[in-house]
Amino acid sequence: MKTIGVLTGGGDCPGMNAVIRAVLRGGIKYDFETLGIRNGWQGLIDWDIQPLDDSSVAGILSKGGTILGTSRTNPLKNTSDFEKIKTNIKKYELFALIVVGGNGTLSAARDVAKQGIPLVGVPKTIDNDICGTDVTFGFDTAITTITDAIDHLRTTAESHHRIMVVEIMGRNAGWLAVMAGMAGGADEILIPEVHFTLDEVCTKLQNRYEAGKRFSLVVISEGVHLQDLGLLSAPIERDDNDHEKFVGVGNILGKELESRLGIETRVTILGYVQRGGSPTANDRILATRFGVGAVELVHAEDFGKMVALQGNHIINIPLEKAVNQLKTVDNDTYNLAMTVIDGRN
Ligand code: F6P
Repeated sequence: MKTIGVLTGGGDCPGMNAVIRAVLRGGIKYDFETLGIRNGWQGLIDWDIQPLDDSSVAGILSKGGTILGTSRTNPLKNTSDFEKIKTNIKKYELFALIVVGGNGTLSAARDVAKQGIPLVGVPKTIDNDICGTDVTFGFDTAITTITDAIDHLRTTAESHHRIMVVEIMGRNAGWLAVMAGMAGGADEILIPEVHFTLDEVCTKLQNRYEAGKRFSLVVISEGVHLQDLGLLSAPIERDDNDHEKFVGVGNILGKELESRLGIETRVTILGYVQRGGSPTANDRILATRFGVGAVELVHAEDFGKMVALQGNHIINIPLEKAVNQLKTVDNDTYNLAMTVIDGRN
């Protein structure tokens, strides 16, 4: 009997549990024993593990988050940590690892694989910013949550004749903002990929008011750099994700819109609510397909790869190809979203 380990790293995301379940269940036909590794790479360093069986994955399909816990530990940051990982894999006779993560975790996986550790990757993130896969699980759940929030915000904005600014996650990619903005019928969508000026935004909102539309919903992605707009002259403290620390671009934008337009403005920062909750049916299905696909790669001993969705097929690509760059919003998608807002072509 071969033993495989599964770990979940990076920010949590709806559908991670569905992958864990699919790895365990998919491994049964190959007689794999599955070990859950707690808290991402950290569990591999500390040998903090949880043997998985059918009962441990029962009922987790619909649960958000990850039963294994997660962390942003980088296994290659300290040589001594990586030595511990190698020792543990050998000592406990792990045949292979399945690493579920976003860009950070998968970049580490690529580097660990290069050092001869047999592993395969499974892409996860609500941000949908991983190359080589049409979509990641978690994204559908997050845009559903955000769309629902926008629907709620619309009625209150409309009643009070206000501008409602909604700040959305997504790190340096605007996928969540564009897609949820499209689904929620936002009146403006601001993302890091597309340059805009405040004058343009103000003119658009002013025109709406003059046309009798007495409220507006403005979606802004957290990755937008307000300094790029010439809004702030002093350098802003940035966090590890390169975001404005403790400020929130939404708040800055809201304040600016209210003072320039003289229209009452409110700001909602959706925050971590976007990462929680039960995965949608689509995310459960994709996560399940990814989990089973990863087991197939392990069985074929085809390591250093990542499962991915292309069209309606689960394929695999070298990890190297997936993590080399960020998948950002393309012009066609952005223009489509803007076409239904302001007739742009
Ligand atoms: O990558 C997912 C994500 O939720 C981003 O959208 C967000 O910027 C980031 O993680 C937040 O990370 P943390 O959990 O470290 O605050």
